[in-house]
Amino acid sequence: MKEKLIVSLDMTDSSEIKALVDNLGDRVIYYKIGAIPFTFFGPEIVTYLKKHGKRIMFDLKYHDIPNTVARACDGAISMDVDLITIHASGGFSMLEEAVKAVLSGIGRQDGERPKLLGITVLTSIDEAYFKDLFGNVERSLAEQVLFLAQLARSAGLDGVVASPQEIVPIRQCCGDDFLIVTPGIRPAGSGVMDDDQARITTPGQAIKAGADYLVVGRPIVKAADPIAAAEAILKEMEDGYRETA
Ligand code: C5P
Repeated sequence: MKEKLIVSLDMTDSSEIKALVDNLGDRVIYYKIGAIPFTFFGPEIVTYLKKHGKRIMFDLKYHDIPNTVARACDGAISMDVDLITIHASGGFSMLEEAVKAVLSGIGRQDGERPKLLGITVLTSIDEAYFKDLFGNVERSLAEQVLFLAQLARSAGLDGVVASPQEIVPIRQCCGDDFLIVTPGIRPAGSGVMDDDQARITTPGQAIKAGADYLVVGRPIVKAADPIAAAEAILKEMEDGYRETA
């Protein structure tokens, strides 16, 4: 299960990041670098994780004109990251250019290629907020997620980032070989955390629904004991997996 857990390093102090990665040791092999650590520390933090043998989800959620996104992807590829995110709502041409960049492998050091993921609808957005934002869109939030997942698939992306609540319908429409990465994970018994996530489930439920990767930030990095928190989440993931087997 530890292959499926991605810990999100949304922190502004690099010594705290390094201490956490050190403390979690072999329990965690996959980390997410998003807008917070990359804006504070730049490529240095990616290099640090690579040096420690970690895999990296590079979550800058690019959304811009096609050429800008494709060239930004070239930069991400040159850092040998494993997953790159772009907003599926950027449209087919933007997605297609990003796919070309990833397939061309320009800048890649190790011959592998990163997988490209489309962000569907952020997990902090609930139905009411979605209506406020896109009052003129006839699709419901769930329909919009599926629409964007299919758009991403048709443009050649490897998968999507979506709420765990949408895993089953995405799997049905996009197939088994399409990656589904889910943030919005809150451990069983943690109650509703007083935070910005809206469309959430537990680690066990996300695994049972068929998620390929779970992204977990604050339930681990803000825990009084991050090691215990990571182990408890891995245990919940294993239990969820056993219930599906
Ligand atoms: O702390 P928490 O577990 O809520 O962290 C979730 C992480 O996943 C954050 O870094 C957030 O930016 C990211 N994310 C998300 N929803 C998406 C895509 C990424 O919460 N749709």
